[in-house]
Amino acid sequence: MSMGKLVVIDHPLVQHKLTLLRDKNTGTSQFRALVQELATLLAYEATRDLTLEDATVETPVATAKTKVLSGKKLGIVPILRAGLGMVDGMMSLIPAAKVGHIGLYRDPETLSPVDYYCKLPPDVSERDMIIVDPMLATGGSAIAGIDVLKRAGCKNIKLVNLIAAPEGIEAVQKAHPDVDIFVAHVDECLNDHGYIVPGLGDAGDRLFGTK
Ligand code: PRP
Ligand code: URA
Repeated sequence: MSMGKLVVIDHPLVQHKLTLLRDKNTGTSQFRALVQELATLLAYEATRDLTLEDATVETPVATAKTKVLSGKKLGIVPILRAGLGMVDGMMSLIPAAKVGHIGLYRDPETLSPVDYYCKLPPDVSERDMIIVDPMLATGGSAIAGIDVLKRAGCKNIKLVNLIAAPEGIEAVQKAHPDVDIFVAHVDECLNDHGYIVPGLGDAGDRLFGTK
């Protein structure tokens, strides 16, 4: 069985911003701004395969034979809560995308995802969907989110994370080999509490100031 792509986006701007994001002394407002900026940079790569069609446009000088996006329908789905922090950054490049929401939290004992909310665009099955979540740890939340989209009929799904653990990547690739994964960095491992090492701590708490 062929495996989905793993794309590590190690552009210098991404690496620099990721270092600031990881810093335990980075406060909530800067953390939020960095997550948005990183989401925009990752969106650039995650949309590299969008299809184009021929177009012409009148410049002040002549007619240019050029290209425009072919109007393929896109959707973004943040995994609540932390995925919310990436939506505006993605939307700055693809403003016509519709946004669905999937609410999942990890049970602190079992580390299994618990679902509590789902609202998707009515035509979700016709859209190419991009799931966003800053952290891919065990992979349980991402797998559950992809399951939801597949049950709703989606056929083309991508996953965009800022930091991933090798364990999470392997789990998603095994459960959903058709899903390409875009990350800014692959970290070392998970600790006994399922946190990514070195990671950045709890992304939701750092985004929303809840700890
Ligand atoms: C975090 C993160 C992912 C999940 C990753 O969310 O934003 O959704 O953990 O872990 P996993 O790969 O092991 O499933 P969390 O459960 O802390 O919820 P929150 O965003 O509401 O804080
Ligand atoms: N969720 C987070 O927010 N951080 C981790 O390191 C793992 C899961």
